[in-house]
Amino acid sequence: MKQNIVILTGAGISAESGIKTFRDSNGLWENHAIEDVATPEGFARNPSLVYRFYNARRAQLHDKNVAPNLGHDALVKLEQSDGFDVAIITQNVDNLHERAGSKKVLHMHGELLSALCMYSNQRTYYKDDFDHTTECSCCQRKGGLRPDIVWFGEVPMYMDEIQSLIEQATHFVAIGTSGQVYPAAGFVNFAKQLGITTTEINLVPSDNNYLFDHTYVGPASEAVPQFVNDLINNKNN
Ligand code: OAD
Repeated sequence: MKQNIVILTGAGISAESGIKTFRDSNGLWENHAIEDVATPEGFARNPSLVYRFYNARRAQLHDKNVAPNLGHDALVKLEQSDGFDVAIITQNVDNLHERAGSKKVLHMHGELLSALCMYSNQRTYYKDDFDHTTECSCCQRKGGLRPDIVWFGEVPMYMDEIQSLIEQATHFVAIGTSGQVYPAAGFVNFAKQLGITTTEINLVPSDNNYLFDHTYVGPASEAVPQFVNDLINNKNN
């Protein structure tokens, strides 16, 4: 029987790809207070700053030094191995899982390469800069596009789908996430209630590490391949 592996990823899996985590510099994200760049209130106060901030994050994805690392690659290897169904729920807004080759990725906190039209609620793929002067392709109006990012105080995406994925899972894995932001931080509690095997992979165990059955400590580029090899070789399930 196939094993259903549901994997929650956070900023830690992309750290070695050159994208900074959120909580490693005194609560600042790339030198900005989170409430200034990751809340609807911050956007209402200073939209130009928020557009500039996400334009810079989006441009960073095109930097030649930013690329998937061995941690992302290992998850593709798992997906391509016989006997495993893999779904990735990511809190990351980068595109590194897709670039590595993962096929089933849910971006619960949105995506940098997407713009959301506030007039029509339609999403458009965007790889370049946009701001309040950009005409939106769905309704040809200016001023309606915003970064397609779930800001604090907003409801994460795909919650129904995520719930049903975890209900069907045989193994829940959290990689490189501090477990401080809900609802994602609570997925492990849900998995435990369902009696599913749980594994944490992190540079340092998170505060809710006690909820996990297994822990792999180390950089994602080493710990994720180790975990995947163990799983494929039946050492941890
Ligand atoms: P955090 O910045 O809170 O946590 C990063 C985690 O990655 C920590 O637990 C680190 O120990 C771990 N880490 C760092 N480097 C690592 C490495 N090389 N290998 C493995 N682990 C490593 O990031 P998230 O938990 O993803 O939300 O943050 C959750 C959400 O808070 C984000 O999605 C974002 C943020 O504010 C929104 O933007 C809505």
